[in-house]
Amino acid sequence: MEPLLDAAERLSRAELEALQLDRLRASLRHAYDNVGFYREAFDKAGIRPQDCRSLADLARFPFTTKADLRDHYPFGMFAVPDAEVRRIHASSGTTGRPTVVGYTERDLDTWADVVARSIRAAGGRPGHKVHVAYGYGLFTGGLGAHYGAERLGCTVIPASGGMTARQVQLIQDFRPEIIMVTPSYMLTLLDEFERQGVDPRSTSLKVGIFGAEPWTEEMRREIEERFAIDAVDIYGLSEVIGPGVAQECVETKDGLHIWEDHFYPEVVDPLTGEVLPEGERGELVFTSLTKEAMPVIRYRTRDLTRLLPGTARVFRRMEKVTGRSDDLVILRGVNLFPTQIEEIVLRTPGLAPHFQLRLTKEGRLDALTVRVEARADTPPEQRDAAARSIVAAVKDGIGVSVAVEVVAPETIERSVGKFKRIVDLRRGPVGGV
Ligand code: DLL
Repeated sequence: MEPLLDAAERLSRAELEALQLDRLRASLRHAYDNVGFYREAFDKAGIRPQDCRSLADLARFPFTTKADLRDHYPFGMFAVPDAEVRRIHASSGTTGRPTVVGYTERDLDTWADVVARSIRAAGGRPGHKVHVAYGYGLFTGGLGAHYGAERLGCTVIPASGGMTARQVQLIQDFRPEIIMVTPSYMLTLLDEFERQGVDPRSTSLKVGIFGAEPWTEEMRREIEERFAIDAVDIYGLSEVIGPGVAQECVETKDGLHIWEDHFYPEVVDPLTGEVLPEGERGELVFTSLTKEAMPVIRYRTRDLTRLLPGTARVFRRMEKVTGRSDDLVILRGVNLFPTQIEEIVLRTPGLAPHFQLRLTKEGRLDALTVRVEARADTPPEQRDAAARSIVAAVKDGIGVSVAVEVVAPETIERSVGKFKRIVDLRRGPVGGV
């Protein structure tokens, strides 16, 4: 399919970088002049917005963390008068206060533009029907997808998350070409199609735009085969804007192009904060280039990935996020991400793609149990073989011993949005994820 490009997508690399530098300098100035937090942080670091003369100079500016946003709850990071804030979203952290973000009229416009661009990169076109099953509300997924799809000229079905049986009915009756949903909720929908005796490969869906949580190439294969659709990745976070920070192009499926005309990426060493060269893995950091209500300067996402040169677009790509530092399990000194277990589970015959990781304590040591469902037609002896095969693959591939429990179909809790992959049942002060 011939991709259609907007003006920014047709810039040369040199033109893009010139635009980025202009916007970066303006964004640093805006943050410094209008947000007390940034003024203090820049002053403390002995740096001024005008000291940024090249894109590389950004590395001299201080980082911003989620804790900084929490400390300025609710509106302390806003750079415009309250009356200019048109919308507020928030993301509920695992602990403590939510992170609050705000948008001006122009920010909402930018957001709709980048999501429209994302849906187009995924193969969406004006006139397509888009079923949005990301949650609507303070979470940015639902409304972000919604206005982007409308901006592209699509017909939106604002289903939101939950009421799974009805979702399946709506998909059959309204015949959308595109679905936007978390990959884990797509699996819940898959079960429901099967429960209702409807072949999931027979629907009108052609493309799924999946994000808001990590998912693997193995999961892509599973979803593409079971639904007979193209599955592409969308990335974003509320602090930066919401969904639509980066998007995978359907024609290449080779990582996500970052919409760099609005969001400037860096990858840094998570421990030292040093900027890493293209191609090296580390923590993704974003600086907003055009945001008005809540500019972010060098925001530490805690997401781990690497930057790669552009392919289908002039913009640089980020590799699929393999995990975030928050999800890292350190088990007897060995680092493990849930996505590594996902790869193994999905490669093992006889198992369903539903699994959860349970962390417990055995004496002073942490222990991990992989609970995974058997497929309905898997005989008991194959379940045991599958469990043994996972134990061996984790030991060989990751280098640590885990327990595996293969449970009956429909045992593990189902996702309705972002899935909680790790259940931490440990008590006491020792250890931590
Ligand atoms: O999850 C925004 C979003 C909505 C993105 C819908 C895509 C689709 P938050 O709730 O602020 O915002 O959570 C952001 O989710 O830092 C990542 O850890 C994770 N995340 C988002 N997209 C992806 C993805 C939305 N494609 C946090 N792959 C981010 C892996 C993702 N992780």
